[in-house]
Amino acid sequence: MTRELTWIGLLATGLILVVLGVAMLREPDRQADAIRDLRVEAVTAGMDLYAENCALCHGAAGEGLGATPLLNSEGVQSMAYEDLFKVIERGRYNTLMAAYGANEGGIFTNAQIDTLIAVIQYGNWSAVAARVDELGLTPPEPVLVELTDETLASVRGLPDGDALAGGLTLYAAECAACHGANAEGTTLAPALDSDELRARLTDADVSRIIEQGVPGTLMAGWSRALSNEDIANLTLLVRRWPELTAAGIEIPVIEAEPVDMSPEAVAQGEWLYGLLCAQCHGSTGFGTAMAPALNNQTFLNETPDAAIQQIIALGVPGTNMPAWGGRLSDADIAALTAYLRSLEPTAPAIVQPSAGVAQPQAGAGGGPPWRQN
Ligand code: HEC
Ligand code: HEC
Ligand code: HEC
Repeated sequence: MTRELTWIGLLATGLILVVLGVAMLREPDRQADAIRDLRVEAVTAGMDLYAENCALCHGAAGEGLGATPLLNSEGVQSMAYEDLFKVIERGRYNTLMAAYGANEGGIFTNAQIDTLIAVIQYGNWSAVAARVDELGLTPPEPVLVELTDETLASVRGLPDGDALAGGLTLYAAECAACHGANAEGTTLAPALDSDELRARLTDADVSRIIEQGVPGTLMAGWSRALSNEDIANLTLLVRRWPELTAAGIEIPVIEAEPVDMSPEAVAQGEWLYGLLCAQCHGSTGFGTAMAPALNNQTFLNETPDAAIQQIIALGVPGTNMPAWGGRLSDADIAALTAYLRSLEPTAPAIVQPSAGVAQPQAGAGGGPPWRQN
């Protein structure tokens, strides 16, 4: 009896020693495992934040959209932690990149910003895209204004036709909405096909305006979105527009349809609103720290349908309001307008700023634990 107990005791002690020994050998591994687990946790949390807040501009897989830069590049992945933190916390002045940090009036705590950095530095972008899709937040595909092949062929027939056709293609997609289909000007922006302009501005002036914009007006600077060649082609187009007119080349004007207020259109608009707008303008349009309320009498009374559609399509340059015209069809923009209009009968007279900005945390402190390796 006692002998058996002694044996069991010895055996147990031996086992403990073996387990301890193995554990001691594995200690560095365990630390590595723990750091890896923290990273997985951070990336998982960050993917949802990315889907809800970033995918619409930077793309479901971080591939970038329109003029918004890609995030899935080695260049961004290898940016210093502090620099990534700063961009997300403070935004980039005068671009669509908003300040997301609570310290800057945004919606994220430092810990949440850390999870977004985890996605950028350790995430797997196809997993991110799958998560974005699962949440139903994949941004709509760009739809561009299309010039007919016939029109482009006639333009190519002119001297330097390829450069002119390149300029016209960009013009139709990026400039026509403000400057008019045939550069005749609109209530938003002056004519570009104008002898007065051609006399007043040299080619260098025109290029500079396109590149840098006109501060304090709707004319944004295009240097980030367009190449030097694009800008040269647009400048050439402005100079030589009279030749297009002389050759009988004309881009048909797309007439704005009256907004369809059918229950189906309003429902489609409500669905799109939840998907694309609620994150900034609040779930029922009452606004957040990121964007103003839309659901109020003042805005809805004073803004005609056409103006709402124009704001949605063109965005508000120099603010966080994205341009949706390249990504949503006219029908989608009309449906969004119908939804906003449907709020008018019940909209409050005074803007109700919604509370709920996350509390700032104390100091960024050199980064989260999953980086300590
Ligand atoms: C409304 C559009 C928009 C949204 C939403 C947006 N960004 Fe950006 N982001 C931009 C633009 C535009 C830039 C480029 C700014 C510039 O020109 O320097 C940018 C730049 C960045 C950069 C720097 C990239 C570089 O190459 O320097 C990072 C990192 C970034 N964004 C992360 C995020 C994260 C994370 C989110 C979500 C919390 C987010 N962005 C949401 C538009 C957006
Ligand atoms: C969101 C509306 C908008 C868009 C889009 C836009 N512009 Fe402009 N643009 C303006 C406004 C407004 C002005 C007048 C600025 C001012 O008051 O000086 C202007 C001015 C200009 C001028 C100077 C005109 C003059 O008489 O001094 C040029 C050139 C120009 N834009 C070219 C372009 C080109 C090329 C594009 C497309 C890549 C473009 N714009 C896109 C609104 C826009
Ligand atoms: C990334 C944040 C963001 C998103 C997403 C966003 N907006 Fe905005 N929006 C803004 C900001 C910021 C402004 C205010 C711009 C300014 O200062 O003039 C604005 C302004 C507007 C205005 C003009 C309001 C006024 O009082 O003049 C309308 C209309 C609007 N947004 C509609 C929409 C719709 C519709 C969507 C979805 C398709 C949307 N926005 C998505 C940030 C956003």
